[in-house]
Amino acid sequence: MARFAALFCAIVAAATSATASVGPIKPAITFFTGIDFTGQSFTSFAGVPTGCIALDPPFFKNVSSVEIPTGVKCTLWNETQCGLVSGNSVSLPSGGTPNLTVQGFNDQAVAYQCLSA
Ligand SMILES: *[C@@H]1O[C@H](CO)[C@@H](O)[C@H](O)[C@H]1NC(C)=O
Ligand SMILES: *[C@@H]1O[C@H](CO)[C@@H](O)[C@H](O)[C@H]1NC(C)=O
Ligand SMILES: *[C@@H]1O[C@H](CO)[C@@H](O)[C@H](O)[C@H]1NC(C)=O
Repeated sequence: MARFAALFCAIVAAATSATASVGPIKPAITFFTGIDFTGQSFTSFAGVPTGCIALDPPFFKNVSSVEIPTGVKCTLWNETQCGLVSGNSVSLPSGGTPNLTVQGFNDQAVAYQCLSA
């Protein structure tokens, strides 16, 4: 628990969002390097709305599936500024997206932004 709390604080501190609300720690999104929720995974506990957060290796241009909890929706971008410069994006609802190839976004994401659904 302490580890999650520390991670949460670090992510909130790093977020560009001006208001950091303190609330229950729950996932914003989980990334998988493989299709069908396989390979290496990483769960972001950034508070929603997350603001624009860049992916670090090995997830940078290496995400093939994602899981988004109920009440959250996320946009993945293929550039690090989440729409401030021209780029491509895909908006995903809550639930599982098992194969980002279907959305034309396999191994494309370099940043993400999650909002309340
Ligand atoms: C993608 O992720 C897998 C699993 O962690 C890793 O083995 C591979 O090196 C990564 N590829 C890139 C291009 O980062
Ligand atoms: C994002 O994707 C679009 C469409 O495939 C491509 O034209 C553009 O070069 C990509 N941007 C980056 C920063 O990779
Ligand atoms: C992922 O989707 C692509 C495009 O629809 C398809 O060609 C591929 O077989 C799918 N991969 C898996 C493992 O289902």
